[in-house]
Amino acid sequence: MTAIIDSGAGANGGTSPGARTPIIEVRGLVKRFGDTVVHDGLDLEVYRDEVLSIVGGSGTGKTVLLRQIVGLERPSAGTIRLFGEDLAGLDPARLQWMRNRWGMQFQRGALFSSLSVIDNIALPLRELRCLPDNLICEASLLKLELVGLSARDADKMPADLSGGMVKRVALARALALEPELVFLDEPTAGLDPMASDDYVALIRELRRELKLTVVMVTHDLDTLVALSDRVAVLADRKVLAALPIPQLVKIDHPFIREYFLGERGRRALSALSAGANPASDVAAVAGHAGES
Ligand SMILES: Nc1ncnc2c1ncn2[C@@H]1O[C@H](COP(=O)(O)OP(=O)(O)OP(=O)(O)O)[C@@H](O)[C@H]1O
Ligand SMILES: [Mg+2]
Repeated sequence: MTAIIDSGAGANGGTSPGARTPIIEVRGLVKRFGDTVVHDGLDLEVYRDEVLSIVGGSGTGKTVLLRQIVGLERPSAGTIRLFGEDLAGLDPARLQWMRNRWGMQFQRGALFSSLSVIDNIALPLRELRCLPDNLICEASLLKLELVGLSARDADKMPADLSGGMVKRVALARALALEPELVFLDEPTAGLDPMASDDYVALIRELRRELKLTVVMVTHDLDTLVALSDRVAVLADRKVLAALPIPQLVKIDHPFIREYFLGERGRRALSALSAGANPASDVAAVAGHAGES
């Protein structure tokens, strides 16, 4: 199926992509590991100020896609442009400079187990080698507070943190260099519903305060519905569609039917229609699916 790239309005507060230039532009991406083809002609665009979520079955290549976009993995073919620059054409110094413009929260937190909370957060700043250590500590403490933790947590080791705290510390580290773009890989996976809601509220607030563009991979429907302006569906080795949820749920595809219009999906979508969200036709679609 041909990839559909949306130009619809953001549903959760992001401005409409319209005719603006994307800050991430993936074209004709192919990724192979030996005989395994993970992506085959994948296209995706991400616009400034939006929350773009990526969904897809387990193993469809969501993490591998993020890793290629941030330059941790090389595509087999195709181009990836970030902030207008082709990643493949960048020299190492330029790539390093570009890396300071985004932060990534990895799927499993990826905190260094031998470093304290504050040293984990300070790491990206220390790697820059341009600030004295007292300033680095001060800046890292500010980031810790920004994600809802306190100085009391600074000297804890990763093994002593709850799941929700690990996610927050990982987020604080992703924000250490004050990026304009953050990638979140399964940010609420493994959290209980309350911790998950708190995390969603935190991202909303940070997005507003820091004017972040967010690219998020999640299986969690409630998080997806609460935060996304558009959702990109990864299926058949491509981005099948990248649309606001009300438009997305109208596409006739087995993954979309199963994911959004199953019992859990309909519950999440009706919560969306109950809130101050422009997705009232989502409820209509969800309700209709429930009747059939
Ligand atoms: N370094 C690697 N070498 C070989 N195969 C890999 C490598 N990294 C990922 N893969 C394969 O690429 C495919 C996509 O993996 P990926 O981790 O991106 O899936 P995902 O969509 O993020 O899944 P999940 O939802 O479970 O996190 C899988 O088949 C995986 O085994
Ligand atoms: Mg993954």
